[in-house]
Amino acid sequence: MAGIRESIHGQWSSRWAFVLAATGSAVGLGNIWKFPYITGENGGGAFVLIYLVCIVIIGVPIMMSEILLGRRGRQSPINTMRTLAIEAGHNTNWQWLGVMGVLAGFLILSYYSVIAGIALFHVFRTGVGTFDNATPDGIATLFNTFLDDPQALLFWHTVFMVMTMLVVARGVRGGIEKAVKFLMPALFLILLILLGYAMNTAAFDQGLSFMFKPDFHALFYYTNDAGIEVMTWNPVLIAMGHAFFTLSLGMGAIMVYGSYLPQNASIARVTFMIAGADTAVAIVAGMVIFPIVFANNLEPGMGFGLIFKTLPLAFGQMPGGAFFGTLFFILLTFAAWTSSISLIEPAVAWLVENRGMSRAGASVLSGITCWLFGLLTVFSFNIWSDVYPLHMFEVFREKTIFDLLDYLTANIMLPLGGLLIAIFAAWLMSRDATRDELDMGEGPAYISWRVLVRYITPIAVSIVFLRAIDLI
Ligand code: TRP
Repeated sequence: MAGIRESIHGQWSSRWAFVLAATGSAVGLGNIWKFPYITGENGGGAFVLIYLVCIVIIGVPIMMSEILLGRRGRQSPINTMRTLAIEAGHNTNWQWLGVMGVLAGFLILSYYSVIAGIALFHVFRTGVGTFDNATPDGIATLFNTFLDDPQALLFWHTVFMVMTMLVVARGVRGGIEKAVKFLMPALFLILLILLGYAMNTAAFDQGLSFMFKPDFHALFYYTNDAGIEVMTWNPVLIAMGHAFFTLSLGMGAIMVYGSYLPQNASIARVTFMIAGADTAVAIVAGMVIFPIVFANNLEPGMGFGLIFKTLPLAFGQMPGGAFFGTLFFILLTFAAWTSSISLIEPAVAWLVENRGMSRAGASVLSGITCWLFGLLTVFSFNIWSDVYPLHMFEVFREKTIFDLLDYLTANIMLPLGGLLIAIFAAWLMSRDATRDELDMGEGPAYISWRVLVRYITPIAVSIVFLRAIDLI
């Protein structure tokens, strides 16, 4: 049965091209910007541990499922779900899973582009030596002043969105593989140079113990306004949500990339490579940032500005800092770029398939839509910075529109999408179909995958969801 369908959008030139593109999608702001700041907000070690467990028991099996669905359906996620549902004798309503993914992708890209714009802006700021010998306070003030200016944020958001539309319009297969092949290793190398700097700060040990010494009490309990200790599962939900976010799972990005994967590639092997590279980048980023935080008496839980208030300190102090800093932000922007294109690819593939649009037209339409949604995030940082639309709920009390978008997509839509993908692959598709597509025989590898996606993953995701509901 294998290889019955062909994608109208073409195929990757090889298994490597897919690994590079999918790694490009996975490694991005999630690893370097988001992972450190949510780790900081959620107390460190215990959070990191739960995140790693989620990667292994939830992320890896779901990534395999997403790739296998994509490769078997060979269309945009909406049409893939529809086709595979019909093939398995089920209801075409499964296509709504693809629709939810398109929506999640739009919402994520809307704020992702604003943050990527901030990274892009830092390329120039670092290049002109703004941070040379700057103090933590000075850097924080510069950053806050920048956030206060909606026009500046809007400008960089627009630049980044245009960059994204350009690549998607040309088709994601041209060029990305080549770019990722050089840029990802280069990004990793700079992170290692920064790690060298972090090791020489007085707080390296403190940074490491923050990241790797789990304190479960601090994770599960917090003290409320009345001074009473309360238990919460929210950090677990955030760790799980981040496992989906960082691996680009749950909305069809990896599925659509999988739809261009050659039939002879081993899905398990490519998954391990992607997940391994992604995790390594995040862990090293954390090992760089927390020593800088503690060496400068900064607050690990300061929120989403963490990397922009810490890394410039390192660049301002280390020899060649302006050079390395500029290079670092260029590479970070590239990492964000190779991720952003995967966020609208499912929508673009669908518009091409079902609306007969050209790739260029579909990219522009999707890009403009995300750009418009992006205004919500731009204003969350300034004119709407004290608008908390869901303040009546305890967990959302001090969440801006940007915070809510992030929460809704990463912690709710992606895990829900992933849960449904797991259920579809493990319970609805025939055993023959999945065995065929994973192509690893009936051995222990296949059995482990099946047990994970049938039982462990859905149960784990559901428990976290159910525990988190009583937060509200
Ligand atoms: N994984 C990327 C990051 O860590 C972001 C991303 C790209 C993404 N495609 C996605 C997140 C699809 C969720 C779903 O920066």
